[in-house]
Amino acid sequence: MKTNFLWGGATASYQCEGAWNLDGKVESMWDRYLHENNLENGDVASDHYHHYEEDIRMMKEGGQTAYRFSLSWPRIIKNKEGDINPEGIKFYQNVLDACHKNGIEPFVTLYHWDLPQYWEDEGGWLNLEVAYAFEHYAKVCFEHFGDKVYYWSTFNEPKWFVANGYFIGNYPPGFKDVQKTMIAAYNVMYASALGVRAFHEKGYKGEIGIVHSYTPVNGVDDSIETRIAMRYADNYSNNWVLDTAVLGEFPIDLIAKLSEDYDIRFIKEEHLKIIKENTVDFIGLNYYARTLVKPYTSGETQLVFNHSGKPGQSKVVIKGWFEQVRDPNSEFTAWDTEIYPKGLQDGLIEAWDRYHLPIYVTENGIGVRENIEVDQVNDDYRISFMNDHLSAIMNAIDYGADIRGYFAWASFDIYSWKNGVEKRYGLVAVNFQQNQARKPKASYYWFKEVIESNGEKVERKIFD
Ligand code: BG6
Repeated sequence: MKTNFLWGGATASYQCEGAWNLDGKVESMWDRYLHENNLENGDVASDHYHHYEEDIRMMKEGGQTAYRFSLSWPRIIKNKEGDINPEGIKFYQNVLDACHKNGIEPFVTLYHWDLPQYWEDEGGWLNLEVAYAFEHYAKVCFEHFGDKVYYWSTFNEPKWFVANGYFIGNYPPGFKDVQKTMIAAYNVMYASALGVRAFHEKGYKGEIGIVHSYTPVNGVDDSIETRIAMRYADNYSNNWVLDTAVLGEFPIDLIAKLSEDYDIRFIKEEHLKIIKENTVDFIGLNYYARTLVKPYTSGETQLVFNHSGKPGQSKVVIKGWFEQVRDPNSEFTAWDTEIYPKGLQDGLIEAWDRYHLPIYVTENGIGVRENIEVDQVNDDYRISFMNDHLSAIMNAIDYGADIRGYFAWASFDIYSWKNGVEKRYGLVAVNFQQNQARKPKASYYWFKEVIESNGEKVERKIFD
């Protein structure tokens, strides 16, 4: 690994901070949605708001050199008029100071899904005005934190929060509507370009990228039908984010396909120009699993996600496009996530060949149920998962890909959206029931040795 390779963990504001209504923070769309539906929420989460010093100190003690986290828009901007909450600014100043005090490089995401509810009330991402509100929020962040942050990302996983929120309906605002999905996707990518423009325009030091939920696509065979299905799946899963952010263009065949059945008049020349002229400096790729597909056969669109941890329920069929297939030879988590490090190796090579931009692996990890009422959680499955995925990264680097960092998901146990706190990803165990006590897991110590050996400790594997 290059000597300045970033090694760290990642979190997101809603998933770890808690303090949902403290010190001037206003309601987010997730606060409203989870409260209204009486679902497990992140009101307290890992209470990082009060534990950030301890958490960041533990990162340093674990040998880590970077911390990826997100800022909470509703903690920073109080209302539609764009007024700033000084206490929100102060909180993040403190977090950033703690990072620097401990020699941890902050890697900051502007938007990890917690839209202020006052904007959701105005239509959320269906309203183009929200893209301009995001631009204002981004400018406030650059102005207040620009001297302490070098690495910025506009959005975390547009594909995931747009598809879940507007197409699948399992995340707020809970729509199942293709037309709305297209509009939200468009407005988010436009907002991202406005954020990139605001950053570059003022000449802040540093780099700005986007973080994508990367699911490289494989086909069940080499037939032409399968290759067409793969292209549909790639457009659905990856290209509309990466092509748009990096190349400055929505995939033309995707737009042509959608225009057969839907109204695309919301696409405007002046927005496309801004998207084209304001592309990202790097790509952040979150990798959990690939997408294995076969051609669409019959039936209606089906999008079933497993939030219960009872295996074998997930299903993705997009009518007329593709069907997702479960590889019978693979191992899956209880939440139906395939464990497939080869997908990361191949995906990184593909992304490098296609975009030739620096890449950071901004999330990678395994979510499991764990008994943390022990002296130390012996999470050998996580060690093996991380080992193999780091090996995949090293293989891609050997190929020539410019990969500059790895962030384990997650730095410590956090709230896992619709899966609650039962699904644990952390390198550090958090006892949510008892004083939020923190205790490193075996993987934390293993990761420390990996970092201190600059990757030498990873048991290398080639994934053919
Ligand atoms: C990514 C997100 O999609 O995956 C995280 O950026 C999320 O916020 C992570 O927590 C794991 O997903 P989940 O649903 O298991 O928490």
